[in-house]
Amino acid sequence: MLNLTIDGIPVQVPEGTTLLEAARQCGIWIPTLCHHESLTPYGGCRLCVVEVRERKVTHIVASCTAGARNGLEVVTCSDTLLSIRKGIVSLLLAEVPQSPVLQELGAAFGVTGDTRYTPRNDSCIACGRCIRACREIVGVSAIDFAYRGYKKVPAPPFFERSESCIGCGTCVAVCPTGAITMHDIQAGIYSRAPDGSIIEGPARIIDNWKVSFPLKTCSRCGEPFVPQAVLDHCAIYAKLPADFFELCRECRQ
Ligand code: SF4
Ligand code: FES
Repeated sequence: MLNLTIDGIPVQVPEGTTLLEAARQCGIWIPTLCHHESLTPYGGCRLCVVEVRERKVTHIVASCTAGARNGLEVVTCSDTLLSIRKGIVSLLLAEVPQSPVLQELGAAFGVTGDTRYTPRNDSCIACGRCIRACREIVGVSAIDFAYRGYKKVPAPPFFERSESCIGCGTCVAVCPTGAITMHDIQAGIYSRAPDGSIIEGPARIIDNWKVSFPLKTCSRCGEPFVPQAVLDHCAIYAKLPADFFELCRECRQ
């Protein structure tokens, strides 16, 4: 076990624990954006920064990626940290002013969007949660970052229709800013797919990855419930029989 202090509180954590996890373990709130408990730490947004004192030297590190070590003195709130976090939130809020998550953080830190920056056309803050979720939870890797710096965005290869996306919507569920638009079309309704073709519902569209999928219909209640591609993926991944997903979740209960 490792022994350290966080804001003066002695903490004991197992090897491999991050400073963010150690702080949460003793009930200390540290703001995060790119972090997600189910995903590999990325250290992209720097909102979770903390001060680490070791042998009379102080460093500022991202707590979601920095590991706990014996003898560390960690400070999670100081004037310096507050100023860094305010700067980050102010910048992100200027880029994506419509995001409720960023608005909440802005209110918590008492900042508005920095007027020197113009809002983006989308709501993406390049946190990478969608990319990591697709790779680590779904096991598909349909998207990755394209470009660098300010222009960095998650995208399917060559910004073309993703060939490997299965339409599960995990990326939508983990996105903190609602930057990924997914909608299901009812049976009998026609809609234009992101690639320009006309599709008939029941179907699912995810605009960002330029994909659309027919939805599987429950053989008992007749309600569409999930893209067939998701079921095919689960059948292979979990080695389930082909008829395992004949019923929707409600009818199976
Ligand atoms: S689309 Fe959402 S989850 Fe993906 S990088 Fe952008 S903000 Fe993060
Ligand atoms: S939450 Fe740690 S860098 Fe984003």
